[in-house]
This record gives sequence, C-alpha cells and structure tokens, in this order.
Amino acid sequence: MKFFLDTADVSEIRALAETGLIDGVTTNPSLIAKSGRRMAEVIAEICAITPGPVSAEVTATDFETMLREGQYLRSIAANVAVKVPLTEAGLRVCRALANDGTKVNVTLCFSATQALLAAKAGAAFISPFVGRLDDIGQDGMQLIADTAQIYRNYGFATEVLVASVRHPVHVLQAAKLGAHVATMPAATIRAMFKHPLTDRGLDAFLADWAKTGQSIL
Ligand code: G3P
Repeated sequence: MKFFLDTADVSEIRALAETGLIDGVTTNPSLIAKSGRRMAEVIAEICAITPGPVSAEVTATDFETMLREGQYLRSIAANVAVKVPLTEAGLRVCRALANDGTKVNVTLCFSATQALLAAKAGAAFISPFVGRLDDIGQDGMQLIADTAQIYRNYGFATEVLVASVRHPVHVLQAAKLGAHVATMPAATIRAMFKHPLTDRGLDAFLADWAKTGQSIL
C-alpha cells in the first residue's frame, strides 16, 4: 500500500518524508488556502521534496478552463498529478489529459458508479472520500470495497486512492480491501506508529539495559 500525505504544509511533508514511508502528496484548494501560499509555488516545492505523485487540483468547473488549468499544473513539475472533480466536465478533462500521458486523480468520489466512470475516463487515481461518507452516517469503506471489486472485475488500471481518511482504522480497513493508496493527514500516519505496549516494552528494555552499566558504542 502506498501512503500519501494529504496536506500542503511543507514542513510536515519534509519531516515525514525523512522516514522514507511517504510515497506521494495530495492537495486540494482548501489545503492550498490553509497553507497561505501561492498554488504554483507550494506545489513546486512539494514536488521537489517527494519524487512521488503530487496532486494539484484545478479550480475551474468548465471543460475549456479546467483543461487549460490542468495543462498549466502539469507543467509545474514532472511528478504533478492533475486533480479534477468527478463531474461530466471533469471526466472529459480527465480523458483529454490522460490521452496526453498526464496522471489524473479524479476527486470528490462518493459512489461506485462514479468510480466506474472515472476508470473508464482513464484516471490514474480515483479518490473516494470515506470520511465524509462516515460523517453523514453512510459506510465509506463499503464504497472502497465496491470500487475495488469493480476495478478487479474489469482489470482497470486506475488505482484506488482512499481519501478523507480520519484515523488509522480507515487505513487498516482500506489495506485489508487491497486499496492501492491511502492519503492521510500527518497526524494519522503519526498515530499509526504509536502503541502503548510498544512504549511500555521499550521503557522496560532500556531500564533493564541501564542496570548492566554497558553501552553499545
Ligand atoms: O484531499 C482530499 C481528501 O482527503 C479531503 O479529506 O478530511 O477534507 O474530508 P477531508
């Protein structure tokens, strides 16, 4: 499973990139706004930090302007994946950019039929928003299960990029379903490192080691 960071906070990306566990980054207009920086500048900096795909989202809603925006975003760096919303115009742009060899991440997916359309449109990634479905009492992970099954049935190359991840259990469930990618806030991946028994066990090892009076170096 690939882990992407869902943020435009360069300091968070730099810190976690040093673990070697980050395979890419996703952003969206809200995350760019939160960064307080110009889109092109922050995307270029993120692309220089991580060699993996970095999703940058168009903000127009009409075909012509979205296409031009996508072509501009793609020009920022070789590892930019252009993000488009799952709308009719967005999927037309997806097909046009994919035909040009551009990786497209189709976002704001909330149904398996939408995910089927995105795969047919040549998306490199589909981003089903599990957390936002959970937030309204629906089963976000069922969308992942349905999408993964449909993609397997027809051999679609589109990768399931689980988005709107709220906690490590989402990552666990997505991994058990065979999703290709989970994109998550820095806090979620940090929470995945932690277990109280690991902390307690390490404290006990080090306390016993201290009694030996030895040091390895
Ligand atoms: O960036 C796409 C998605 O991960 C957003 O998640 O937390 O705003 O529902 P969230």
